[in-house]
Amino acid sequence: MKKLTIALLSLTVAASMQAQNLPVYLDESKPIEQRINDALGRMTLDEKIAVIHAQSKFSSPGVKRLGFPDLWTDDGPHGVRPDVLWDEWEQAGQTNDSCVAFPALTCLAATWNPDLACLYGKSLGEEALYRNKSVMLGPGVNIYRTPLGGRNFEYMGEDPLLASRMVVPYVQGLQSMGVAACVKHYALNNDEEYRHQVNVIISDRALHEIYLPAFKAAVQEGGAWAIMGAYNLYKDQHNCHNDIMLNKILKQDWGFDGVVISDWGGCHDTDEAIKNGLDLEFGSWTDGLTMGKTNAYDLYYLADAYKKAIREGRYTTKELDDKVRRVLRLFYRTTMKKDKPFGFLCSESHYDAALKIAQEGIVLLKNDKVKRSKSDKEAVAILPIDPSKTQRILVVGENAIKMMTVGGGSSSLKVQEEILPLDGIRARFSGAQVDYVRGYVGDTIQSYNGVTVGRSLYETRSQAELTAEAVEKAREADIVIFVGGLNKSNYQDCEGHDRKSYDLPYAQNEVIEAILKVNPRLVCVNISGNGAALPWINKVPAVVQAWFIGSEAGEAIASVLAGDVNPSGKLPFTWYASLGQCGAHATGSYPGNWREDYKIIDEEYKEGIYVGYRYTDRKGLKPLFAFGHGLSYTTFKVGKATADTQELTAEGKISLVVPVTNTGKVAGSETVQLYIAAKQSKVDRPVKELKAFQKVYLQPGETRNVTLTIGADAVNYYDETANGWCAEPGTYEALIGTASDKLPTKYTFKLK
Ligand code: BGC
Repeated sequence: MKKLTIALLSLTVAASMQAQNLPVYLDESKPIEQRINDALGRMTLDEKIAVIHAQSKFSSPGVKRLGFPDLWTDDGPHGVRPDVLWDEWEQAGQTNDSCVAFPALTCLAATWNPDLACLYGKSLGEEALYRNKSVMLGPGVNIYRTPLGGRNFEYMGEDPLLASRMVVPYVQGLQSMGVAACVKHYALNNDEEYRHQVNVIISDRALHEIYLPAFKAAVQEGGAWAIMGAYNLYKDQHNCHNDIMLNKILKQDWGFDGVVISDWGGCHDTDEAIKNGLDLEFGSWTDGLTMGKTNAYDLYYLADAYKKAIREGRYTTKELDDKVRRVLRLFYRTTMKKDKPFGFLCSESHYDAALKIAQEGIVLLKNDKVKRSKSDKEAVAILPIDPSKTQRILVVGENAIKMMTVGGGSSSLKVQEEILPLDGIRARFSGAQVDYVRGYVGDTIQSYNGVTVGRSLYETRSQAELTAEAVEKAREADIVIFVGGLNKSNYQDCEGHDRKSYDLPYAQNEVIEAILKVNPRLVCVNISGNGAALPWINKVPAVVQAWFIGSEAGEAIASVLAGDVNPSGKLPFTWYASLGQCGAHATGSYPGNWREDYKIIDEEYKEGIYVGYRYTDRKGLKPLFAFGHGLSYTTFKVGKATADTQELTAEGKISLVVPVTNTGKVAGSETVQLYIAAKQSKVDRPVKELKAFQKVYLQPGETRNVTLTIGADAVNYYDETANGWCAEPGTYEALIGTASDKLPTKYTFKLK
C-alpha cells in the first residue's frame, strides 16, 4: 500500500512538473480561453493569415511551428465524402475512403424522432473521426419553401420547430465525437437556381419566425462549433460576409462563439470579409482571378490582400485576432482535443443506424383496400405484402436499379455498399418469382466526380416497347411494385439548379397509367427528396415515400413492404397537389426578377410567414398529403387532453397529457403532434403552428399517456415594431392529433 502511494505521488509530481514546463497553450489543465490567448500571442501575422483561409479544396493549415495540426473538413450531411485531389474536385482515387451512406436529411426529419438524429450525428462523427476529418459540412436546415428546390433532400423540411428539434441532437451527437458540425447554409438559401445571384427580400417576421429558428437552435441549444454562410445575398450583401446576418444576428444576438466558414466560393470581397463576420474562407474560385491557376490560395480574399491591408495600416489586427481566436477555439474543440472517442468506418453499428433511420423515415402515404385475387371475397389493404401468399411480383422502374448515393452535388458519396430496391425486394421475397422490367429510361449517367457505379443503365428500346413490356408482365403479376420518383441528376434533386417542373420526369406517369389498365394491384414507391404531382393518385391503391435512404435502401424498403417494419414516418413538408398550392409560386415570387444589369435577381418572399401548411391552411386548400401525414399498418386513437392548468404565465409551462391507444392488430409507432391556434391577435396569425410532438411505440391494445409541454414561446410571434418576440395575453387552442389535417383533440388555455 505504502509503495503504491509513493508511486502515485511520484507520477503526480512528474505530471505537474511536465505541466509546469508546458507553454500555456498546450497545457490541458488551463482554461481554453487562456490557451487561446497564449497561442494568439505567439503567432506571427503570416501564421494568423494562414489559419483563416484554405490551403486545399477541403483543408486549412494549422500552425506548424506551434504544433497545431491542419484542419480537415469534408462533406457532408449524409456520409463522409471521398477524398479529392489537393486542389481539384476530382477523386484522389484512394481505396480506403468508402463510407456508409445514411439516409438524406429529409428522411431523418420524417422520422420525427430526435433520438435518431442523435444516433445519426454520432455514427457520422465516428466515420469522420476514422477518416481524420474534424469538420463535417452539414447538417443543412434551410426551409423547404418550394418543392422545386434542388437541395431540399439535404434539409429538414418546411417547419421551423420540426427542423429545430431534429438539428439540435444531430449537432450534439456529432460534436460528442470531437467533430464539428458546420450548419448550413446560413441563411435564406431556399432554392438553388441562380444561387450566387439571388438577393432575398423578406420581412423580419418571416425571417425570424420561419427561416432562422433552426439555425438559432443549432447554435444556442446544439452548441454548433461552425456555421456555413450561404451563397445568396440578403439586403444586397452576400451571406458569407453579411453584416446583419453574421455580426448582428449570429454573433451578437445569439452569442455564437464558433467559426463562420464560407460556402465554397461564397466569398467575394476582402473588405466585407474582414468586417462582416467571415472567419474562414474556403473554395474561392481562384480561377475567378485567373482561370486554370492552381494552388492560388494566397490570392484568396482573406490571404495576401488582407495581409497587405494590415501592413499598409488600413486595418489593425482587431478583426483578424477575433477570427483567429475563433479558429483556435475550433482547434481546441477538435484537432487539439486529446480525449476523443475512437472512430469507426463502415462498422455494423453504422449500417444498423442507417437502416433504422431509413425504416422509421419511410412514409406510407396511402394504403387502400383491394381484392388481391379474383376469388377473394373481401378487399384488404394492399400493404403489407404477405411473402407467404404472394407468388409473382413484378418490379418496374429505373429507380429500382439506380444508385442514389452518387450524384446530387456535394453530398455525393462513395459507398462501401448500397442495397438497391430491386435487390432488397428479391432478397426479402425470395420465395416468390420477382421479375423486373425497366418501364422507362430516365438518366443513365451514373458517375459523379470520378465515382462510378457498377450496374449499367444502358437501354436502347423505345418508350413504346418499354411500356408494352411492362403492361405484358403486369397482367400476370399478383402485385406490381413501381419504383420511381426523382433522382440525383441535374435539374432533379441536385445542387446547383431547381427542378423545372412539378411533374414526375420521364415517362413515369404514362407507364403507371398503362399498368393500371391491366392490374390495379399497384404499389408506387417514390424515391425523392421532394413532392411531385401524382395525377394517377386516385387510381393507385398504395404510395410509399421512400426518400434517398443510403446504404440500406433496398433492405429498408423491402422490410416496410413486407410488414417486418410497421411504417411510422410523417411528412416533414406539405405535399402539394399542384404548384399553385405553394405560397412561393402562387404569389409569383419564385424565382424572382432580374435587375437591369442581369447580375442580381431579386426574390421577394411575398408569401411571408405563410410557408407550407401555413399557406394551404390560410387559403383553405387541400394538399395531396398534409404536413405531418403518414399512415401505419395499425390504427391509433388519440383521446382527450388534460392539463395541470388552463393558465399559462410568461415564465411558466403547460403540460398536456393525451392518452394514445393502438387500436389495431400490430405493434407500431405514432407521432402525436400539437399545434397552436391563436384566437385573437394584433397581427395576422397562421391558422395553426406546430409547437410540440412526441413519438410513441405501442403494442396492439396498449394505451400510453403522451406528455407535451409548451411554454409561452409556443404562442409568441416576432413583433416587427419592437424587433423582438411577443407573447400576447389572450386565449389559445392547442390542437392535438396525428397529422396537421387530423387534429381531433382541442385544449383551450389562456396566457395571462
Ligand atoms: C456546397 C456546400 C458544400 C461545399 C463543399 C458547395 O458547393 O454548397 O454545401 O459543403 O460545396 O463541397
